[in-house]
Amino acid sequence: MKLLDFYKSLKPNDKHLLKEFCWILEEKYSLNEADYLAGIKDLENEHIKTLNIWFKKKSEDYPLQYFLNSTGFLDLDFYVEEGVLIPRMETEDIVSWILDYYKTKETFPKNMIDIGSGSGCMGIALAHKLKPDYVGLLEPYKDARKSLDVNIRKHLGGESEQVELLKMPFEEYDFKNEFDLIVSNPPYIKIADPEVTDSVYKFEPHEALYGGLEGYETPIAWFKKSVGHLKQNGLLVFEMAYNQREKIQSELSEYKLEFVKDRFGKDRFFYYINE
Ligand SMILES: C[S@@+](CC[C@H](N)C(=O)[O-])C[C@H]1O[C@@H](n2cnc3c(N)ncnc32)[C@H](O)[C@@H]1O
Repeated sequence: MKLLDFYKSLKPNDKHLLKEFCWILEEKYSLNEADYLAGIKDLENEHIKTLNIWFKKKSEDYPLQYFLNSTGFLDLDFYVEEGVLIPRMETEDIVSWILDYYKTKETFPKNMIDIGSGSGCMGIALAHKLKPDYVGLLEPYKDARKSLDVNIRKHLGGESEQVELLKMPFEEYDFKNEFDLIVSNPPYIKIADPEVTDSVYKFEPHEALYGGLEGYETPIAWFKKSVGHLKQNGLLVFEMAYNQREKIQSELSEYKLEFVKDRFGKDRFFYYINE
C-alpha cells in the first residue's frame, strides 16, 4: 500500500498526521520520507501496523516524542520515554543563552551542576559543548533516570570521573564544592494550573511539573539553597514560568537577578552572577 493511500483511508482530520507518519518511518525504520511520499516505495505490513498504533495513540493525546523515544534539543537527539519530562523549546533558549554567554568569556566553566536533570537536556547539552572537568546531574526519580542514563551514555560516553549522576532529592544534596555554573529547570507550575494541556497532564510526570501550590515555591527554595555555592564570577541560571517574575524578584530581592525572555517574548528565566 502507498503511504498516501493509507493516510487517506484513515480519513484524518489532521494536517500534521502525514508529516508525523514520515517522521515515524524515518526514526523507527530509517526510511526516506521522499520515497514514500512520492509513492516510489510501498509500505510493508509492519510499517502499517506501527502507523495504525500511532493513529490510535494520537487520538488519546499521546506525545509523539514518547512514541519515537526521541526528541531534538539544539543539534542533539535526546532519548525520552514515559517518566521523564519532554524537553521544551523554552529550555533550549536558556541553554543557547548560556552558550552565548560563555562565548564572550575567556574561560568555560570548569565544573557545573544541573539540578532536576530529567532527560539531561540542559546539563548534558552544556557539558557536551563546554566540556567542563566535572558535571553533576541530579535527578531523584528512577523513571526519569532511565532516559537520563541513555543520554549520558549517548552524549558524554557514560558516567565517569567527570560525569556524576546524583540520585537524591535536591533538598538532601550536600554541596561539597563551589560551582562555576549552576543550572536548573525546576518544577514550577502551580497546582491545578488550567494552562496545563490534557496531553501534558495525562502523560508527563507530575513531579517534573508542579512546584507547589503557587508553583514558584520550588524555584525560590532551590535558588536559596544553591546561591551560596557559586564560585567568584560563577553563573546561576534557573527557568521559571512566564508570570513568576514579580514574585521571584520580591522574594529574592537581596540578590541582583536579571530576567530574560524566551523566543515567544515571555519572561522565562533568571540569572545571577556572583560578582
Ligand atoms: C521541569 S523538569 C526539568 C527536566 C529537565 N531539566 C528539562 O529541562 O527538561 C524538573 C525535574 O526536576 C526533578 N525533580 C522533582 N523534584 C525534585 C527534587 N526534590 N529534587 C531534585 N529534582 C527533582 C523532576 O523529576 C524533573 O526531572
